[in-house]
Amino acid sequence: MGSSSLIGDSESWKDLKFHVEDIKKTHLRELMADTERCKSMMVEFDGNLLDYSRQRATLDTLNKLLSLAEAAHVKDKINRMFNGERINSTENRSVLHVALRAPRDAVIKSDGKNVVPDVWGVLDKIREFSERVRSGAWVGATGKPLKDVVAIGIGGSFLGPLFVHTALQTDSEAIESAKGRQLRFLANVDPIDVARNIAGLSPETTLVVVVSKTFTTAETMLNARTLREWISSALGPQAVAKHMVAVSTNLTLVEKFGIDPNNAFAFWDWVGGRYSVCSAVGVLPLSLQYGFSIVEKFLKGAWSVDQHFYSAPFEKNIPVLLGLLSVWNVSFLGYPARAILPYSQALEKLAPHIQQVSMESNGKGVSIDGVPLPYETGEIDFGEPGTNGQHSFYQLIHQGRVIPCDFIGIVKSQQPVYLEGEVVSNHDELMSNFFAQPDALAYGKTAEQLLKENVPQHLVPHKTFCGNRPSISLLLPSLSAYNIGQLLAIYEHRIAVEGFVWGINSFDQWGVELGKSLASQVRKQLHVSRRKGEPIEGFNFSTTTVLSRYLQASADVPSDPSTLLPKM
Ligand code: F6P
Repeated sequence: MGSSSLIGDSESWKDLKFHVEDIKKTHLRELMADTERCKSMMVEFDGNLLDYSRQRATLDTLNKLLSLAEAAHVKDKINRMFNGERINSTENRSVLHVALRAPRDAVIKSDGKNVVPDVWGVLDKIREFSERVRSGAWVGATGKPLKDVVAIGIGGSFLGPLFVHTALQTDSEAIESAKGRQLRFLANVDPIDVARNIAGLSPETTLVVVVSKTFTTAETMLNARTLREWISSALGPQAVAKHMVAVSTNLTLVEKFGIDPNNAFAFWDWVGGRYSVCSAVGVLPLSLQYGFSIVEKFLKGAWSVDQHFYSAPFEKNIPVLLGLLSVWNVSFLGYPARAILPYSQALEKLAPHIQQVSMESNGKGVSIDGVPLPYETGEIDFGEPGTNGQHSFYQLIHQGRVIPCDFIGIVKSQQPVYLEGEVVSNHDELMSNFFAQPDALAYGKTAEQLLKENVPQHLVPHKTFCGNRPSISLLLPSLSAYNIGQLLAIYEHRIAVEGFVWGINSFDQWGVELGKSLASQVRKQLHVSRRKGEPIEGFNFSTTTVLSRYLQASADVPSDPSTLLPKM
C-alpha cells in the first residue's frame, strides 16, 4: 500500500470486513469457553495485566488486525515519531512528548538536535523553583510563604495535570509531601470558576501559574488578567512578579503580559497541548504541590511504557493491542463509543482527560493527505469511576446500546479500609464489581435462565440481557505516581496507534478553530452594542434574535469594568 492511499482500500481492511460476518456468528459466551484463546489474550508488562479476552475477537481476528497494522505501516510510524520526524505534517511539527520523560542520558532528536538536555534544563529549573517555594525561601510580596497554587489553563493545559493531581491526592507519600498546601485549577472563562478558585485564598499566600502553550488562548488570558487584577488590587502591581509565573512555548508573550521571563518555564512546539502533562505544563504545578521527586516517579512510569511501546513485539504490546482493538470496535463492529470505567475514585479525572486526548486527536474527517475518509475515525469517550457509573449509565451499557468498556482495576488501594465484622474489605467490595461487570456484559442472561429462576413470563423480556458486549480489563498493581505515569502513556500511545491505522493526523486540531473565530465576532458585537448601543449586524436571524434577548435582558447588570471581581 502506498503511503497516500487509504487503509480502507487495503486487502487487510477488506479481509477484516469479511471477517466481521464470522464474528457475528459467535457469542462471547462461546469465545470465553475457549481457555486457550483466553490465555493468549492476556498480556503483562511491569506488573500491569491486560485481559482482552472479552473482545469480540478470535485469534484469527488478532492476526488480521496485526496484518492491518503492517499494511498501515504502524511500526514505521512509531519509529518516525520517536525519531522526531515531523509527523504532524499540517503544523509541520515533530511529536516528541516521549522526550519529556526520557532519562537524562537519552538521545532523542528533533531536526538533528538532541532535545533531552533542554528538557532536563527545564526540569532542573522546576525542581529548584518548586523547592524554593515549598521551603518558604521564595516568599510573596508581603514576605509570607506561598502555600497555595492556582494553575490557570484550559484543554491540554489543564486536563492532564488535573487528572494526575486527582490521582495523586490520595496517595500516602503524596499526601505527606503536600501537607499544608493546596493546588487548584482555573480553566473555564466562566467567572464562576474564578470565584470558586479564589474562594478562601489570600493573594498574599497564593502563587498563580499561567499555563498556555500559545499564550493566546482567550479563556486562559482573560482568567490570567483577572487573577493579575486580584493580586495587584490587593498587593500592588509590583506583587505580580512574586505571585505569577508562566508555562508556555511563547516566552515573548509571557514577558509582554508582565511576567518576569526568569519565572517562565518553557516547553516546545513538538509537544502537543493534550500530550503536554509531562512538560512544565504538568510538572510545575504538580511539583509545587507534591515535590519534584514524586513527579519524577510519574515521568519514569510514563517512560517505562514508552520503552515498552517502542520495542515490544506487537502481539505483546499493550498500547498497540488496545489501539488495534479500538479500530476493530469502531471501524468493523461499528461501535462508535468507548466507556472508561476506572474502579478507583482517584482516577475520576481520567475520562475527562482521555476525552481530549482521544477525541481531539482522532476526531478527523480527512486522511493525513487531506483525502475525505470513507470511514469514521475516533470514538466517543466518556466515563465515570465504578461503582458510581453502575448507578448511572450502566443500564444503557447492559441492555441498550453496545459500548465497548475499559475496566481499570487497582490491586492495592491507596486508602485501604477493612471494618470489623464486614465480609470483605472496602476495596474488595469495590473490586467485586470490577470483576463482575465484564462478565455480566459478556455473558448476559438468557430467557431460559430467567424462567428457571421462576421469573414471571411478562418480566422475562425486561430481565433478559443479551450479553456479547465487549470490554477490556486492565489491572494495575497500585496507584503510585509511577503507575499513574504508566496509565497515561498507555492511553496516549493507544490513541496514536488508532490514528496511525486510520491514516489521519492525530496531532493537529483544526476542528477547534471555527468556533473560536465566530466567538470573536460575537465578542466584538457585544462590545459595540453594550458600550455604544450599536445594533446587531452580520448574524443570521436566529443568532440575532437570541443575542438581542441576551443584551436586553442583561441591560441592568452593572457594567463598569473596574468594579467587577467575583465575590464568594
Ligand atoms: O482549543 C483547543 C486547544 O488548542 C487545545 O488543543 C489546547 O490544549 C488548548 O486549546 C489550550 O491551548 P493553550 O495551551 O495554547 O492555551
